[in-house]
Amino acid sequence: MNKPVDLPLDALAHDDEDHNTSGNPSFMDVLDARLSRRSVLRGGVGSAASVVLGGLSLSACGGGDDDPAPAAPSGPAPITSLAFAAVAKNTLDVVTVPTGYAATPIYALGDPLTAATPAFANDGSDTDYDNRAGDHHDGMEYFGLNAAGTARDPQGSTRGLLAMNHEALTDNFLHVTGSSARPRPASESDKEIPAHGVSVVEVRKTGTQWAYVQNSAYNRRVTPLTPVELAGVARGNALTRTLYSPAGTGARGTINNCGTGYTPWGSFLTGEENWAGYFTRGAADNAARTGVDAKSVAALNRYGRAQGAASRHGWETSGADDKYRRWDISRSGASAEGTDDYRHELNTYGYIVEMDPYDRAAAVKKRTSLGRFAHESAAFGPPTVGRPLAVYMGDDSVGEYIYKYVSTANWDAADATAANRIATGDKYLDAGRLYVARFNADGTGTWIELTITDPLISGYASYAFADQGDVVINARLAADAVGATRMDRPEWCAVNPVNGEIYYTLTNNSSRKLAPAAGQFGLDAANPRSYSDSRGAAAPGSPGNVNGHIIRMREAGGLSNAATFAWDVYLFGAQAARDAANTTLTDTEYAARVNLSNLTADQDFSSPDGLWFSQNTRLLYVQTDDGSYTDATNCMMLIGVPGSVGDGVRTTLSYPVAGGANVNVDTFVGARPSATTLKRFLVGPVDCELTGCTETPDGTTVFANIQHPGETISAANVPIPANYRSHWPGSVGYGAGGATARPRSATVAITKNDGGRIGS
Ligand code: FEO
Ligand code: CA
Ligand code: CA
Repeated sequence: MNKPVDLPLDALAHDDEDHNTSGNPSFMDVLDARLSRRSVLRGGVGSAASVVLGGLSLSACGGGDDDPAPAAPSGPAPITSLAFAAVAKNTLDVVTVPTGYAATPIYALGDPLTAATPAFANDGSDTDYDNRAGDHHDGMEYFGLNAAGTARDPQGSTRGLLAMNHEALTDNFLHVTGSSARPRPASESDKEIPAHGVSVVEVRKTGTQWAYVQNSAYNRRVTPLTPVELAGVARGNALTRTLYSPAGTGARGTINNCGTGYTPWGSFLTGEENWAGYFTRGAADNAARTGVDAKSVAALNRYGRAQGAASRHGWETSGADDKYRRWDISRSGASAEGTDDYRHELNTYGYIVEMDPYDRAAAVKKRTSLGRFAHESAAFGPPTVGRPLAVYMGDDSVGEYIYKYVSTANWDAADATAANRIATGDKYLDAGRLYVARFNADGTGTWIELTITDPLISGYASYAFADQGDVVINARLAADAVGATRMDRPEWCAVNPVNGEIYYTLTNNSSRKLAPAAGQFGLDAANPRSYSDSRGAAAPGSPGNVNGHIIRMREAGGLSNAATFAWDVYLFGAQAARDAANTTLTDTEYAARVNLSNLTADQDFSSPDGLWFSQNTRLLYVQTDDGSYTDATNCMMLIGVPGSVGDGVRTTLSYPVAGGANVNVDTFVGARPSATTLKRFLVGPVDCELTGCTETPDGTTVFANIQHPGETISAANVPIPANYRSHWPGSVGYGAGGATARPRSATVAITKNDGGRIGS
């Protein structure tokens, strides 16, 4: 859903939820942090002369700010100057790409995935979503096949698999006359539930045209009802025992899958994001948990399920069948363990989930050791033989944290082609350490381990952690306990293959304030902006970080297990010039406090979300999910040629305070982009967000997802096509419906007319 800003907290969309009341440090209380950058995390490689500093175990080897970046990988030459003509902002109901490029829909909501499944009628009558593309295409990865389609070929560029997330629903369009009120008819819930999850679909290129393969044996759906395993440190934990899995080792399915990841061994990772909202909890459930499960109330509140919380779609109202009942997490059973109800069901969601896209029979595993929160993407640092692997992750809610997982096992290059990819995942993703980031005011940062052995965690007053499984299940509470930095909604992260630097989108935060009230956030060096914006001629809204920013980090010594990092801000989102109606700032102030990256009309954007590096061209793709600049433009995708941490300047933002001295916040602004290092590449149709990006290994096709075009629709308007805000992709000839079609989330294949690499 497009993200609103300038709304009171209680009016925010589901994925803007703020449950972080930890009081963790903001700007003024991180000034003391000046940890040595010459440090690696204990437990990593060849540590020597360990010292204890500020509660962290460090060792005195490794690199620092002045250490060389890792060597650039071999392969095709990076593109260092963007040659295409930037796409202008627009509100057209089409996908706009530069002259010389084409963006063609190839796989949309409802497309059949077996030979026997009927074509999608797109009139609300369709069923059987277990065998169709789900809704709200999101994160996506490409997995190459050989020409015969019989085996994995990491370089296969004409035949492959797309594994993609189906995050959520435009539910009204799934039904003939829109969604019914509660209690929800089972027939509607039975369509909506399997329209979530993941699909794997084969795609092939014939001549210059891509198409999906309806009868491919690889095609597969994983839905919220597919049996999955809990793996890692929380497997079998007391907090994961349910009526469905009394041993706490299994769970059903995955939901609200947003960002993705591609492992160095060729499997697919999917992140569970706003899963909590699908569950309801009774109005008197706190009392019901007294005695047997009292401490869970703090955890449920922290993860957004206070007692009385309503579920997003009301599936629990569809009947007594267990597949509906499980969406009510109230304690109803008499057991002490929770094996006779679904009081622990919420603890089986919120993970990075691993699948083998090439093997329909392989187990789907929730990798609990990577922590439980509102996951977006999972991006690996460059694998180095003999070193641990690092996986970077963000928690997308207001004021949440940035995380890193470091494997216990050191990387073995032979595992890149291991036959059993899920067993390889067991090796690297089940045993390791989880860290959370603290951003210091001096441009450094610290990775703080989340471990039950830390007295700040084992002795945390707000929640009594029982064991390490409890720590990863309740990672947010553990991160609160150790004083992590509350960020402006971490969305995707991506790792620059050229130098190993890690980029995170911080999409926006309407609660970032100069003078924060309870539940709001003050300014700090890494989250330094608060300003007002208007929508065209409308009055300016209340201040916040309206347009978001993209932060980047460089590990000390370029090491996956570094204890510290350096950071700066790659780009600050902004419109190029303030709206005339926005009289809260002068043009000079706008340039000094808002458009810090000096974006031009060819580059300006708001609410960065999807983020992905091409392994071929090494270009950075930035996708937006915006509700602030949509008066001027639909959501978009930009391409950047990034520099590196420290290529810009330390900058002081000076905020006037009525009747007092200015409040000054120092931050680190990356080098301003030039006209050939950042350009708008694509603008999507009405009401969509751009999300999910992947490529063929030869760099000549980029796949991107158009999520929820025309999502603003009421049930009353569903019978009236004239009221649809979008008719894409039917309007461009894809599928049924033509110019009056119901809009559908869809994947587009982007190619260059001359067959060249995208961005060249
Ligand atoms: Fe599903 Fe945070 O985007
Ligand atoms: Ca505006
Ligand atoms: Ca997203």
